[in-house]
Amino acid sequence: MALSPLAPDRPRRVDLSGARKGLGCLIVRTLDLDDDARVLVLTGAGISAESGVPTFRDSNGLWEQHRFEDVASPEGFARDPALVWRFYSQRRQGAQAVQPNAGHAALVELERRLGDRFLLVTQNVDGLHRRAGSERLIELHGHLFTSRCSRCTRAPFADERLHLEGEAPRCERCGEGFLRPHIVWFGEVLDEVAMARIDAFMAEAGARLTFLAVGTSGAVYPAAGLVRLARRRGGNTWLVNAEPADNGEHFDHFLQGKASTVLPALLGQALPD
Ligand code: OAD
Repeated sequence: MALSPLAPDRPRRVDLSGARKGLGCLIVRTLDLDDDARVLVLTGAGISAESGVPTFRDSNGLWEQHRFEDVASPEGFARDPALVWRFYSQRRQGAQAVQPNAGHAALVELERRLGDRFLLVTQNVDGLHRRAGSERLIELHGHLFTSRCSRCTRAPFADERLHLEGEAPRCERCGEGFLRPHIVWFGEVLDEVAMARIDAFMAEAGARLTFLAVGTSGAVYPAAGLVRLARRRGGNTWLVNAEPADNGEHFDHFLQGKASTVLPALLGQALPD
């Protein structure tokens, strides 16, 4: 399925039962996770906001007057690869300068408790979940510090270099193609293996599933559609976000607030200092 800001099909049935429960509350009841519970977490830019990484919403979807969709797309790269590299080089610089926060740490602690009954899916490319210690992790939209050749079959490789000025870098292997960030751009297809792993996790969990979305506006699909899949499996769905999400009607519970304070409370962990 291609990355898209539009829902492939709008839901016909809108279930508001329990939605917006907890709106405006800071201290909430803890998640009731018994020995059989499975937890699938989906994170977005909001969980990195308190580390100092600007969200897409913060910048109104614009970078230096360019729409993200115009820079983060194969068409944008074909038009001006040097501009795209400047955009991602700035993001590499920004991500290198920050640290994971208490929201990331809360999810690491939950994973330690649940083991294989936990899976974290992030739309973020900043690498902060991995740096915090998350291991059962799917980076659905790719990784900022990995590059690949746009032409040859060279495997994706770790790459922290910056290209803030001048021409876009060429592949050292084939000498022809431009290198590109290993990121899923708008209009590109998500990794099928990753999607199948998410699907298998939900199928195995069935009604024991708790789906928890954190810091995401619910505007970009397929990730924004995972909540509906979780409900179809009989799962219980929670949203922790600073503001209502575009797909908010699909959540059974909405806890409005900052991830770094709401998550530890919801997960029954000690609050950060
Ligand atoms: P957005 O920037 O669209 O949404 C971030 C959400 O986080 C907003 O709803 C904020 O209210 C919320 N938020 C901000 N600070 C928060 C905090 N401290 N605690 C909790 N919530 C907070 O980011 P995403 O939903 O992640 O794709 O965007 C999805 C995708 O669209 C991105 O992965 C990116 C983008 O275009 C690519 O780059 C491929």
